Amino acid sequence: MKTQLENIYSSAKADIEKAQSISDIDEIRLKYLSRKGEFNSIKKGLKDLSDEDKRVVGALANQITQDLESLLKEKHDAFYQKELNEKLRKDRIDITLSGKYIPHGKVHPLTSTTNEIVSIFQNLGFSVVAPELSPEVETEYYNFDMLNIPKEHPARDVQDTFFCKLADNVVLRSQTSGAQIHVMETQKPPIKVISPGRVYRNENINARKNNFFHQIEGLYVDKDITFGDLKGVLNEFIRIYFGAARPTRFRNSFFPFTEPSAEVDVQCIMCQGKGCRTCSGTGWLEVLGCGMVDVNVLKAVGIDPEVYSGFAFGMGVERLAMLKYAIDDIRLFFNNDKRFLEQF
Ligand code: DAH
Repeated sequence: MKTQLENIYSSAKADIEKAQSISDIDEIRLKYLSRKGEFNSIKKGLKDLSDEDKRVVGALANQITQDLESLLKEKHDAFYQKELNEKLRKDRIDITLSGKYIPHGKVHPLTSTTNEIVSIFQNLGFSVVAPELSPEVETEYYNFDMLNIPKEHPARDVQDTFFCKLADNVVLRSQTSGAQIHVMETQKPPIKVISPGRVYRNENINARKNNFFHQIEGLYVDKDITFGDLKGVLNEFIRIYFGAARPTRFRNSFFPFTEPSAEVDVQCIMCQGKGCRTCSGTGWLEVLGCGMVDVNVLKAVGIDPEVYSGFAFGMGVERLAMLKYAIDDIRLFFNNDKRFLEQF
């Protein structure tokens, strides 16, 4: 029995010597030391030995088992360390490689300009008209008729307005002013709103004109609204938007839906009023149109002009952005050149 034990011991040692991996070690442990392993089956024979032999052989068996256990553990740990080192070496992250450039988008300058203008007016108590009251595809009724623009007015000319070929009286709106009518038809005064949006005109495209652009419309209707209120609000807007008290002038003008009407000029930001190419030598730049809502417009939407009065204004977003950022070509906003857009 002693020889049997020693034979198994040396064959186990030889197996351990040959082992290549952790799984080999696990197999050897199963083969020799598990409950059904070789040692156990021999140990079962111990009970048939004399007490003296039991003691000697039993001690030997225990000794061998312990030796094997520690050999296995040693081998196991060595393999484990080796595999770990291998894995660490393979999975190593090379932090000396330069990173990937991930480009990120920016807000388009027309969007940020619109947001800025809208927030200035919100701070002055105006709220933004719901989009359904400011559609881009309009009827002539809202784009012209209700705004007191007569049938024969040149603004209706096919030169300026995109008419729909498929449906009579449908146009791509040429101005955001139609939103005024939608709002006054659905809301009672006091009304204090702005409405930003896109408008379309059948223009030849050049550095100053595009066939679509953006406007912000404003409307304030209440009791006792005066031209003084109009001047106060618009001067305040210009002061905040251009960042400093910039001289303005209200120049007499004409719009069919306002009476009296005015255009507002600001002192040229390029030459500070001296006269240059940008302002065609006048020292002034036109930034918006405005006026007191025409009595005919109020009547048409059923607001009593004896009780209420109001002012309206409309401004071009591109123009205001061009003046603020000294951009000299409107087409830059629309051709998606990243070199231009990245500057904002
Ligand atoms: N709709 C005008 C245009 O496109 C701008 C304008 C002028 C709007 C006077 C107004 C206004 O509300 O009162 O040229």
